[in-house]
Amino acid sequence: MLMLGIETSCDETACAVVSDEGQRIRANLVLSQWAEHRPHGGVVPEIAARAHLDHLDRLIAAALDEAGIGFAELQGVAVTGGPGLIGGVIVGIMEAKAIALARSLPFIAVNHLEGHALSIRLVEEIDFPYLLLLVSGGHCQLLACEGVGRYRRFGTTLDDAAGEAFDKGAKLLGLPLPGGPAIERAAEAGDPRRIILPRPMLGRPDCDFSFSGLKTALARALQDKQHEPQRVADLAAALQEAIKDCLVDRTKVAIARFRQRYGGAHTLVVAGGVAANTTLRTALARLSEHEGMTFLAPPQALCTDNGAMIGWAGIERARLGLFDGLDFAPRPRWPLDPAAAPARGAGVKA
Ligand code: KG4
Ligand code: ZN
Repeated sequence: MLMLGIETSCDETACAVVSDEGQRIRANLVLSQWAEHRPHGGVVPEIAARAHLDHLDRLIAAALDEAGIGFAELQGVAVTGGPGLIGGVIVGIMEAKAIALARSLPFIAVNHLEGHALSIRLVEEIDFPYLLLLVSGGHCQLLACEGVGRYRRFGTTLDDAAGEAFDKGAKLLGLPLPGGPAIERAAEAGDPRRIILPRPMLGRPDCDFSFSGLKTALARALQDKQHEPQRVADLAAALQEAIKDCLVDRTKVAIARFRQRYGGAHTLVVAGGVAANTTLRTALARLSEHEGMTFLAPPQALCTDNGAMIGWAGIERARLGLFDGLDFAPRPRWPLDPAAAPARGAGVKA
């Protein structure tokens, strides 16, 4: 099966051709919009939607070209149907629907979070259930992945997502956006023990997260030291260390819950943009070893937003006959576990 995957829910315009036979990723093109957003200090939804509109046609043509196929060889079109910045989601959905209609192809609206959740199965042969730490710019959750379309949430953030904490921290430290990679680079020259930032929620019996206090603590630590380079490096290292410790501590609680519920299952997976962070990957590998879990992480290029994960989720859904109608309406919110209570706390978005 050859599937087109389109992703436009945030600040990357991405398109891929994915197969479930032989070489799985036939093309995977990601166009970052950061040059356009950086002068504004963050992602501007309107600019993002316009940029998707400007580049998507060309990107799809380039992906098909790289895969060496035309529309006629495709068996379906998968696109992010939400959650995300609604203007961008609409651009992707309209494009995918137009292709599906013009070429009589099945149409699949993929939950962006399910794209991240299943990305590991694109590169590794692993069965359900597995425990997932999903850490991105918009989300920070611990979930049991029971099957395609079947997720049980153990915990979520009460305010900011982990990626947001990296991005806000970078902004305070005068580092370029996106913040995660900038903090990771700056931290290499820093000492994470020179300044100790708080570890919100550490030791709590639930699996929830909170990161908004870290930003305040960072701002306080930075006060009147200005942006002296060693100070910035030390604070970047301190922030990365604090976020990593929180993620590891909460994951440890989730492992116990997961084990209790799913008996012999023993795989921990990390996904989402923050999963590209080497310090986090190393710490999760160590935790897994200690807990007798198998640890798996997609390659870094498949952690940050991409079309391949959407195409792959499309294949997984198509195999189960889970197609969508052309009347599918873009969804700004779309929880993976609708039965989980909505998160409550400072700063939680609707
Ligand atoms: O999954 P993603 O590309 O987009 C969303 O769905 O949100 O995640 C983007 C987030 C950003 O907050 C970015 O700063 C963070 O992932 N990120 C990282 C790294 N690379 C990207 N955070 C920490 N370390 C990294 N190397
Ligand atoms: Zn994402």
